[in-house]
Amino acid sequence: MAKTKTTFFCQNCGAQFPKWVGKCSSCNEWNTIVEEVIQKEDSKSWKGPNKEKKNTKAVKLGEITAVNEERIGTCNNELNRVLGGGLVKGSVVLLGGEPGIGKSTLLLQIALRMKNKVLYVSGEESMTQIKLRADRLENSNENCLILTETKTQQIFTIAQETVPEVIVIDSIQTLHTDYIEASPGSISQIRETTSELIKYAKETDTPVILIGHITKEGNIAGPKILEHMVDVVLQFEGDRNHTYRILRAQKNRFGSTAELGIYEMQHTGLREVDNPSEILISEKDADLTGTAISATLEGMRPLMIEVQSLVSTAVYGTPQRSCTGYNIKRLNMLLAVLEKRAGFKLGAKDVFLNIAGGLRVEDPAIDLAVVSAVLSSNNEISIPQDICFAAEVGLAGEIRAISRVEQRIQEAEKLGFKKIIVSKFSKIAKKNYNIEILKVSKIEEVASLLFLD
Ligand code: TYD
Ligand code: MG
Repeated sequence: MAKTKTTFFCQNCGAQFPKWVGKCSSCNEWNTIVEEVIQKEDSKSWKGPNKEKKNTKAVKLGEITAVNEERIGTCNNELNRVLGGGLVKGSVVLLGGEPGIGKSTLLLQIALRMKNKVLYVSGEESMTQIKLRADRLENSNENCLILTETKTQQIFTIAQETVPEVIVIDSIQTLHTDYIEASPGSISQIRETTSELIKYAKETDTPVILIGHITKEGNIAGPKILEHMVDVVLQFEGDRNHTYRILRAQKNRFGSTAELGIYEMQHTGLREVDNPSEILISEKDADLTGTAISATLEGMRPLMIEVQSLVSTAVYGTPQRSCTGYNIKRLNMLLAVLEKRAGFKLGAKDVFLNIAGGLRVEDPAIDLAVVSAVLSSNNEISIPQDICFAAEVGLAGEIRAISRVEQRIQEAEKLGFKKIIVSKFSKIAKKNYNIEILKVSKIEEVASLLFLD
């Protein structure tokens, strides 16, 4: 008879230890090691290679016939885009995000809007809470079944009776399985319930969407291995105080991770935003200084983003630099470039920078807009509203070309901008744009273009 087996797991990173230690040697956190039961007495275990049935064989790549994976549309264009065209049959999707960001809302909304039969399993909310939320969302799907249950075996029994086409689990941290004794939410429990769900998904060809909590560092709670196990990892992010939410793929076995979905949280649920550029540029009077618009790309999607800057005389000895939505180190670098290469005296000034709409931008093409916004605020001269920017700024003060410049130009043209400032070295094949393309190679040229004429 097998003995009950226990082992020690770090609750922070999932590392495994044979005995208790005070500090996890893998993530250096203190007091995170907890003993968990990994195998109950009497449970079956693997008996060695000879006892396994031999019904698999290795084949040559040429002998495999490729069939296009079948996808189930989710009636939500933004989610379909991020997934790469819909839910692949038998795939497991993990959706992570901060508490209150709208994970349950998004998935319930999709469950209610889809034409397919969906089993929505909640271990977090009661039937009444879900009903109240569903009433708010003003959608109803006759085929959507709600189940409040946390035991996986029970969920599988119900799933066998009802045969849903999609299963939603809210959330993986609340589930537990009979085969493991650890408490729900612990590393071994999460790992085991996920692998049971993956097995179910693969065997029945049913896509399963899991909601996962994230830790305060922003990682999905539970072992990193969870992210390796599932097919798709989605991250739902955004500032809770702003109404916009961004859905990104961190991993996608069936599509690109460059795609991005944008939603707006309204009182009747999440609205899909099809034309994000319009909402990211705030409406304002023409003569405000310190704002510049950048033609950026988020994934494959062009986005016109407004950069706002405020430059004022430093009150205290050391000037302050503060950023929202942009890398502060990069701002400091750009300010140093302005100081050194273009002779602007910003050393005694406070500089504040903000990306409108609560977005976080990593695209280097925003550099030129950042520089221009800072200069505009510093010189108290506004930048005309029909100009936008798309170029990277290098350490020598040179304006560098960025990727897919034509896609950015097209977006600017579509939104009615009159001029776009790009690098002299950008390769633009098409000639007849309905927008004037100004090419520059140094920061000084930008400054004179904007402020001297
Ligand atoms: P929720 O979806 O429960 O977040 P999560 O599951 O990620 O923890 O809640 C999202 C928040 O959205 C909640 O604070 C209330 C708000 N909300 C709306 O603004 N409009 C709505 O229609 C709904 C259902 C929620
Ligand atoms: Mg929730």
